[in-house]
Amino acid sequence: MVRDFSLFSSPGMAPTPNGDPHAAVACVHDGPPIFYSPSNTRDGRGTWVITRARDQRRVLQDTRTFSSHRSIFASALGEHWPVIPLELDPPTHGVFRALLDPLFSSKRVIALEPTIRERARALIDRIARERTSCDVMRDFALPFTVSVFLSFLGLSQRRSEVFVGWVSDLLHGNSDKRTAAARSIVGFIDELAARRRRTPAFDFMTFVVQAEIDGRSLSEEEVRGIGVLFLVAGLDTVAAAIGFDMAYLARNPKDQELLRNEPNRVMLAVEELLRAYSTVQMVREATKDIVFEGVPIRKGDYVSCATMIANRDPSEFERPETIDLARQGNHHTAFGYGPHLCLGAHLARREIVVGLREWLARIPAFRIKEGTAPITHGGHVFGIKDLILTWA
Ligand code: HEM
Repeated sequence: MVRDFSLFSSPGMAPTPNGDPHAAVACVHDGPPIFYSPSNTRDGRGTWVITRARDQRRVLQDTRTFSSHRSIFASALGEHWPVIPLELDPPTHGVFRALLDPLFSSKRVIALEPTIRERARALIDRIARERTSCDVMRDFALPFTVSVFLSFLGLSQRRSEVFVGWVSDLLHGNSDKRTAAARSIVGFIDELAARRRRTPAFDFMTFVVQAEIDGRSLSEEEVRGIGVLFLVAGLDTVAAAIGFDMAYLARNPKDQELLRNEPNRVMLAVEELLRAYSTVQMVREATKDIVFEGVPIRKGDYVSCATMIANRDPSEFERPETIDLARQGNHHTAFGYGPHLCLGAHLARREIVVGLREWLARIPAFRIKEGTAPITHGGHVFGIKDLILTWA
């Protein structure tokens, strides 16, 4: 079956028709387990879209048949190198995960929590002091995630705005802006790596340039591939999650009040919001001709496992369209599945939980400003912009 699912095409800044991209994709569960969408990817090629959570897990586990080996970021610069570990397959992928996993352990993230809280409070206090309305993405979600990232890298907060600009251009700009942003990011990572080689510090980049795998140091390209991925993977995703959560709470004052009065509920609520407003589409490339659920997939074809589809699959979640902030047994795949399971999941969860708790503690009952409407967009990472909140 062929179905045009351009909602996933990148950069995908086109607003979704009914303002609810998640509901728009969930309708695929009425159809077949797999269909072909002719215009689904960044490079204009079509994609096989897997619509059942169970089948997505099969694809994501089977790395021999469905490969992650690509150079999407580098191709924007006319180059070919993988972002690491995302665009590597086992066994090399496992070698880099073993190296990087300890940096993002729950213990490391707990140690970072005071910094995360301090960054959230600084931004929100300023908003609360000066205004009764703000664009939550521009004024809080993006600067917050960039600020935590800079702290993680051990860098000063001075460059925060420049980073926000790069990430927005990279993910949502036209092709010239994307290329310019990609160049700036690579230049920044290369320069930081060179600086840390000369003068080591106690931070992420020093760890990477001093690391060894299989008894050798990492090449310049490998260091760059790691640095670029961490910059790109952790900013827009967390900001988008915070944005969708804020929009939900603004529209559902009872749930907003519940979480404000009982902040202990926020952690469980965040899991439900991650499920219902999943943002990432994972794409793999078939390494051979195969038949999947009766459909012939050719070697080289793209296969899409969209988390926003899997996490609204009625065969996995009772009443998937209903948001139940106390939902139990919530086995969502918002952070992926299989060997590439998100390395930054602990950090992301902490950022979202702390960000929401601090917001609810400092900003009184808020709603979407009358006469404004947030614009949601599809794309490789779903997102939201122009989310103007107001409060008394
Ligand atoms: C709500 C926020 C986030 C979401 C929804 C998210 C989602 C995902 C998903 C779905 C994948 C799997 C991609 C695939 O299999 O193709 C992934 C991988 C990854 N994420 Fe996240 N992510 C988030 C935040 C972060 C943060 C904060 C960081 C780090 C600073 C991070 C770093 C990574 C890395 C390094 C990978 C690649 C892992 C691998 O290939 O082994 N992510 N993420």
